[in-house]
Amino acid sequence: MTSRGLFITFEGPDGSGKSTQLRLLAARLRDAGKEVFETAEPGGTPIGMQIRRVLLDSQNREMRPITELLLMFACRAQNVDQWILPALAEGRMVLSDRFTDSTLVYQGVARGLGAELVYEVDRIACRGLAPDLTLVIDIDTETGLKRAQSRNARTQEIETRLDEQAISFHRRVRRAYQQLAADEPSRVKLIDGARPVEIVAEEVWRAVEPLLLG
Ligand code: TMP
Repeated sequence: MTSRGLFITFEGPDGSGKSTQLRLLAARLRDAGKEVFETAEPGGTPIGMQIRRVLLDSQNREMRPITELLLMFACRAQNVDQWILPALAEGRMVLSDRFTDSTLVYQGVARGLGAELVYEVDRIACRGLAPDLTLVIDIDTETGLKRAQSRNARTQEIETRLDEQAISFHRRVRRAYQQLAADEPSRVKLIDGARPVEIVAEEVWRAVEPLLLG
């Protein structure tokens, strides 16, 4: 029987560079002979991508925080069941660009819905699945937002509803990630994303490497 693969998540404020870091890690793991499955939230599966459009459409200003939370978990439930658990069962490594920690930070803390509610819905949607390692790429709020805005302008992105929240919202997000890393130091590693991409990638690799030996 194959043993269950490792589940690693990337987290961070908008514009932190986490998606670039995920791609670099995936490439390095493949070079090392690992089978890697990449996914992202909100989105991932075809059904999740449809939910993503509703979540991030900048026209959907009436969306309530609880609707937002449930749609995030609807995406995740589909992703966990359709893609993530089967890949892990086949012994593959799964890298996810965001997972439940995003909901904890954005909806639980920044929107004020509370951690308890997030974990309650998580139990239903994820059925006990939690990351083995979470890499939080930290970036100061202004730099992150500037990067996210210039990317959105470049790609003529319309999925900007969450990027467009007030700066105080994004500051709460950053602080909540820092708090999460302090609360769960064995699972969650905070990595300074303000440095050059290769240096950040090296630190990501140093956090992941010990898990590959186990
Ligand atoms: P992305 O830019 O990493 O694709 O994420 C899109 C936005 O969705 C980003 O602003 C973070 C937000 N988000 C939440 O608010 N809650 C969640 O659970 C997830 C996965 C993302």
